[in-house]
Amino acid sequence: MEIIKNILDLNKAVNGINNLGFVPTMGGLHDGHISLIKNSQKKCKKTIVSIFVNPTQFNNKDDFKKYPRNLNRDINILKKLEVNFLFLPKFDEIYKKKRNKKIKLNKNDNILCAFYRKGHFEGVLDIMDRLLNIIKAKYVFMGEKDYQQLFLIKKKFKNKYNSKIIGCPTIRERNKLALSSRNFLLSKKNYFKAGLIAKYLLKFKYLYKRKYKRNHIILNKTIKELENKYKIKIEYLEFRNLKDLKLADFKKKFRLFLAYYINNVRLIDNF
Ligand code: PAF
Repeated sequence: MEIIKNILDLNKAVNGINNLGFVPTMGGLHDGHISLIKNSQKKCKKTIVSIFVNPTQFNNKDDFKKYPRNLNRDINILKKLEVNFLFLPKFDEIYKKKRNKKIKLNKNDNILCAFYRKGHFEGVLDIMDRLLNIIKAKYVFMGEKDYQQLFLIKKKFKNKYNSKIIGCPTIRERNKLALSSRNFLLSKKNYFKAGLIAKYLLKFKYLYKRKYKRNHIILNKTIKELENKYKIKIEYLEFRNLKDLKLADFKKKFRLFLAYYINNVRLIDNF
C-alpha cells in the first residue's frame, strides 16, 4: 500500500487510473469501513482510502479532541485488505486554498442532524468538495448509516463531479448496534444498552405502521420511555421519506431516523 501525504504525489500515483474507487474516512476503522472498501475492490481496479479527521465538521471542540484515532491500527487493517493507496493529508495540505464562497445549506435541509449540529454539514460538504476535487475517482463509497450526509453530498455534487457516489448498507454488530467509530467511546454497559435500543426500534418501525397505525402520540411516548429506561437523551426520532428526507407520508419508502446521547457519546442510526 502506498501512503500519500500530498496532492502532488497523489496526482502522480493515480494518474491514468480510470477505474478508481474512493472510500473517504476519518479513521477509527471498523467493519462498516471494511465493507465499503470491499465494495470498492469488487467494482474498481484500484482503491484509495483517505483518513483525515476534519476539524471543520465538528461543532464541538471536545468532540473533535475525543474522536477515536488509532492510525497504526488503521494502517494495518488497510494493508491486510490490500488497499492500493492511503491518502493521509495534513490540515494545511487540504485547506491551503481558501474558498471564495461559503458553503451554505438550504433552509429545507436544516433538519435532523443539520438542525442539532449547526455547521456540521457545511464542514462535511466543504471537505468532500476538496477531496472530490483532489481525488478523481470513478466511484465513491459511503455508508447509509450517515444517511443525511450521503443525501446532502449526492445532492450537492452530482452535477459538479464525474464521480458517482454509491450508498452502501449499514453494517450492524451482532447485537444490532450500527457500526460507528464512536462505538469505540462506549463503555461495555452502554454498548449493550445501545444494542437493545437498536433492536427495539427495528421492531418499532414495523409495528408503527401496522399495529400502531402511525399514531404520533405513540411515537412521543416511545421517546420518553426510551429516555427513562436507558438514561439517554434523544435529539430526534422521526419517520422520513428516503428520497427527499421530508417527514414520511408512509406512501413512499421511509425510514426511522434517530440521534441520541448516551453518556455524552452521540449516536445516530436509521432503521
Ligand atoms: O463520514 C465520515 O467519516 C466523514 O464525515 C467524511 C465523509 C469522511 C468527511 O470528513
